[in-house]
Amino acid sequence: MEAEAFDLETYLAEAAARVNRALRDYLPCDPGRPDRLVAAMSHSLMAGGKRIRPILCMAAAEAVGGRAEEALPAACAFEMVHTYSLIHDDLPAMDDDDLRRGRPTCHVAFDEATAILAGDALMALAFEVIAAAPGAPPERRLEAVRILAAASGASGMAQGQMRDIQSEGIRLTLDQLKAMHALKTGAMIEAALVCGAVVAGAAPEPIERLKGYGRAVGLAFQVTDDILNVEGDASLLGKSVGTDELREKNCFPVLLGLEKSKEFAENLIQDAVSAIAGFDRKADPLRAIARYVVRRNR
Ligand code: IPE
Ligand code: IPE
Ligand code: MG
Ligand code: MG
Repeated sequence: MEAEAFDLETYLAEAAARVNRALRDYLPCDPGRPDRLVAAMSHSLMAGGKRIRPILCMAAAEAVGGRAEEALPAACAFEMVHTYSLIHDDLPAMDDDDLRRGRPTCHVAFDEATAILAGDALMALAFEVIAAAPGAPPERRLEAVRILAAASGASGMAQGQMRDIQSEGIRLTLDQLKAMHALKTGAMIEAALVCGAVVAGAAPEPIERLKGYGRAVGLAFQVTDDILNVEGDASLLGKSVGTDELREKNCFPVLLGLEKSKEFAENLIQDAVSAIAGFDRKADPLRAIARYVVRRNR
C-alpha cells in the first residue's frame, strides 16, 4: 500500500510554535522593570528562526517511541545555545554581520557588550533549563547536559568557529572543510538528535543510528547554508548573502562549485535516510526533515 504523504509543512509549523511558546516562557522577566539584558536575549531568540535543532530533538524522541513533550526542555536548550552562537558569530570580531533572522543583529540593535552578555546569558540559561527539566530522570538530564556541553565547546561548535575564523583567506582542503563544518554546525545538530533520544530513554543502538543520521544531516545543513550564501534570497533568509566570498571564507561552493556542492548535499541526505532505515513510521518526520534541509530556501 502506498504510504500516506507526510505533511512536513504543518509538522514544522506546529513544532516551531510549540518551541516558541516554551522559549518565551523560559526567558526571565520582571514586568515591573525593563531589563536590557533580557531584551537583547529576546531580540535574538524570539526573532523567528527555523528552530531546526529543537525540532530534530523532539522528532528524535518520537522516533524512538517517546513523546515530543518530554524532549521540549532539551530542545529549547539547544535553540538557546544556537542563538547565542549566532549572536557571537555576527559580532564585528567574527563575521561582522548586521542582519539576522530579518532583524538588525544583536550588537547593532543594542551594543557589542550587551550582545556578548546576551549570548553568555542564553548559554547559561540553556544549561539551567536542561538541569531543571521536569519529568526526566536525573541521570538522563545529566547525560543531556554533558552532550550539549560537549557539542558546543572545544570539541564542537566553538572549535568549528575557531577554525572558520583562523582559516579566513587560507584555502582548506575538502577534508579540512568537511571537518570544520562538522564541528561548527554538525556537532550541535547531531547532539540535538542524540539528546532527544536520550531524554526519551532510548537504547544505545538506535542512538548510534541517530548519530549517523545527524552527522549526515548536520554537514548537509552547512553545505546548504554555504550554497544559500551564494544564490539565496536575503529577504527570505533574513540575513545577508554574498558574505562568504567577501570574507574569503572556506565554503563548499568555492571548493567544489555550486552544482557539485548540491550533489554532495543530496548524497548526504541519502546517507541520512539510510542510517535510520530500520526505524518505523515514527521516524517519518526525520526522513522528511532530511530532505527539507537541502531543499530549503531560508
Ligand atoms: C544558521 O543556522 C547558522 C548555521 C549554523 C548554518 P540556521 O539556518 O538554523 O538559522 P536560524 O536558526 O533558522 O536563524
Ligand atoms: C554560523 O556559521 C555557525 C555558528 C553560529 C556556529 P556561518 O557564519 O557560516 O553562518 P551564517 O551564514 O552567519 O548564518
Ligand atoms: Mg561564521
Ligand atoms: Mg556568520
